[in-house]
Amino acid sequence: MLTVAVLISGTGSNLRALLDAAADPGFPARIIVIGADREADGLAHAEAFGIPSFVVPWEAFESREAWGAELDAQLKVWRPDLIVLSGLMRLLPRDVVAAWAPNIINTHPAFLPEFPGAHGVRDALAAGASETGASVIVVDDGVDSGPILAQERVPVQQGDTESSLHERIKPVERRLLIDVVRRIAEGSLELGARPHDLGSPSAAGR
Ligand code: GAR
Repeated sequence: MLTVAVLISGTGSNLRALLDAAADPGFPARIIVIGADREADGLAHAEAFGIPSFVVPWEAFESREAWGAELDAQLKVWRPDLIVLSGLMRLLPRDVVAAWAPNIINTHPAFLPEFPGAHGVRDALAAGASETGASVIVVDDGVDSGPILAQERVPVQQGDTESSLHERIKPVERRLLIDVVRRIAEGSLELGARPHDLGSPSAAGR
């Protein structure tokens, strides 16, 4: 059984979909802990499912590296096989990526490499794109630049707002995320070798 930690910043609607999927006894992965960088609304899903959670508040640390060191320490308590960034709106510091790579994946509301970053939906609209999409990628130490595991196009409709477009993208993200986690757990999707430039593996990796 693949053990999974999910990290969030927001409402956690994609997390919720993954929790619902994993509640099926036939699903080959189990969410063992949920973490956040703030008192995110989505932590309520952890409580509803009786899953442990932790918060490493971004504001409490002097630097990204200090925040990341505490996040890494929390993750090492649980030693998940896979870390899912599901709306975590912070870049992980290089050391944390190095410690867990390639076993960190991220969902993104655009068809990468188009529109990376924190405002993927807004940027697609601002560019006048006629279609955008959803992607699930392996996290590397760039911004949404890791290998693409799954992606699908979503058309932009006349009159779309950032919110209406994002709400149409999210169900696609959920479907892709659940399928990717399932395939990783079943062994039919490999996350690949550790990137060579990420340093030596941490003892707390897999
Ligand atoms: C999702 O669309 C996710 O892809 C996005 O935040 C949303 C979280 O929604 N992440 C990023 O944009 C990361 N660059 P949720 O909290 O309702 O699941």
